[in-house]
Amino acid sequence: MSVSSSGSAAYSGSLEGSNAQRGLWSSRLAFILAATGSAVGLGNIWKFPYVTGENGGGAFVLVYLLCIAIIGIPIMMAEVMIGRRGGHSPVNSIKAIAQRDGLNPAWKLVGAVGILAGFLILSFYSVIGGWAISYVGTTASGQLSGQTADAVGAIFSGLLSNPGTLLLWHTVFMALVMLVVAKGVRSGLERAVSILMPALFVLLLIVVGYAMTTGHFGQAAAFLFQPDFSMLTTSGVLVALGHAFFTLSLGMAVMMAYGSYLPKKISIAKTSITVSVIDTGVALLAGLAIFPIVFANGLEPGAGPGLIFQTLPLAFGQMPMGSLFGTLFFVLLIFAAWTSGISLLEPIVEWLEEQKGMNRTVSTLGAGVVCWALGIASILSLNLWADFAPLGFIPMLEGKTIFDLLDFFTANILLPLGGLLVALMAGWVMSKPAMEKELALSPGTFNLWFVTVRFITPIAVGVVFIYNLM
Ligand code: TRP
Repeated sequence: MSVSSSGSAAYSGSLEGSNAQRGLWSSRLAFILAATGSAVGLGNIWKFPYVTGENGGGAFVLVYLLCIAIIGIPIMMAEVMIGRRGGHSPVNSIKAIAQRDGLNPAWKLVGAVGILAGFLILSFYSVIGGWAISYVGTTASGQLSGQTADAVGAIFSGLLSNPGTLLLWHTVFMALVMLVVAKGVRSGLERAVSILMPALFVLLLIVVGYAMTTGHFGQAAAFLFQPDFSMLTTSGVLVALGHAFFTLSLGMAVMMAYGSYLPKKISIAKTSITVSVIDTGVALLAGLAIFPIVFANGLEPGAGPGLIFQTLPLAFGQMPMGSLFGTLFFVLLIFAAWTSGISLLEPIVEWLEEQKGMNRTVSTLGAGVVCWALGIASILSLNLWADFAPLGFIPMLEGKTIFDLLDFFTANILLPLGGLLVALMAGWVMSKPAMEKELALSPGTFNLWFVTVRFITPIAVGVVFIYNLM
């Protein structure tokens, strides 16, 4: 992707303008930038490696890839299609389609699930975004150079044990997100995605290059890509499914909102596949960067949410120009998290504006501050409340802190539920000719998609739910 050389007018600014004004930035590109900005985030670089490590590697990765291909991409297409056909914010798009196609307005529930999920996810997402901010200073100061795994681990534990520092960086991250949402200026940031994402990709490649010199690259590749099904549990399958939704920003009507700005002549299938491939590529690259370092230093693949913060700093401490690359890496990670965070807050703010008649500043402040306050519970889960498992009496939630519960409830339950509703809406209730027209696929491909959202997605989500939750 290259950046326009002819100045600001080339890009229509926000997505809002993308239908009206087209310059060097095609609207397809504008959509891809916004959708990729939302999709690529902490989910790819922070969460994917650690859930893969916790769930035993290859078999989990395979299930995750299958979920992306046969559930994620079709659901993304359905969301974008509903958004484009509705032409409004998610709640109103569904209302508009409901009127046009004669559906029950109860489908608005999809929007409600999304708003709740976004709000809950952002509360802990911002805490992790704060970790990334904190690590800019850690890497830039040069204190990592030549450190041992123990020392790097101690720096991370030091951060977690300090609620004040965590709160400071959580506050900074949330403020960054609120600033952009309140001002309604997405354009600059979205344009930046076209430079920063490739830059993040290159830095990941540099770390992968370093990881190859550790002598444990083969072991890492085998861990990621040689499925050992004895390692896979039913809860692992649920986590893989939930993560497919999380990483692609699905199940929350975000892609619906973006789809409403996609011009009619652009292929929904091709754009959805492009976004999904970029997103998956970043995650796999992060895995290839991190696991060689894990094995080379005798670390634990299942170390949990701290995994990248206990491994990447080791690499940056050892490679040439590590302080520079490390600092750049965490700055880029913050940008990736920032564009995702915005897409988590935006739906709530839009809803408050539309339904409650608040102006943008007030609704951003209201939603942002409540979300920030909820984040404090996640911060305390890392230290003072580390042993507090409020729902521990339920066997599958045993030992889960508030932070773990928020992650579990949103990624593994709310998002797949939102996705299930989208699949049911597209597969069973929307007008088929209208969808044929909207997707403009060959009859064979359309039917493949239709059968998937009508049967395969609901059955797959249903079976995984029943196995895990019953
Ligand atoms: N996809 C983002 C990530 O991987 C997180 C995210 C942003 C998200 N917006 C979302 C997840 C909407 C679900 C729904 O980091």
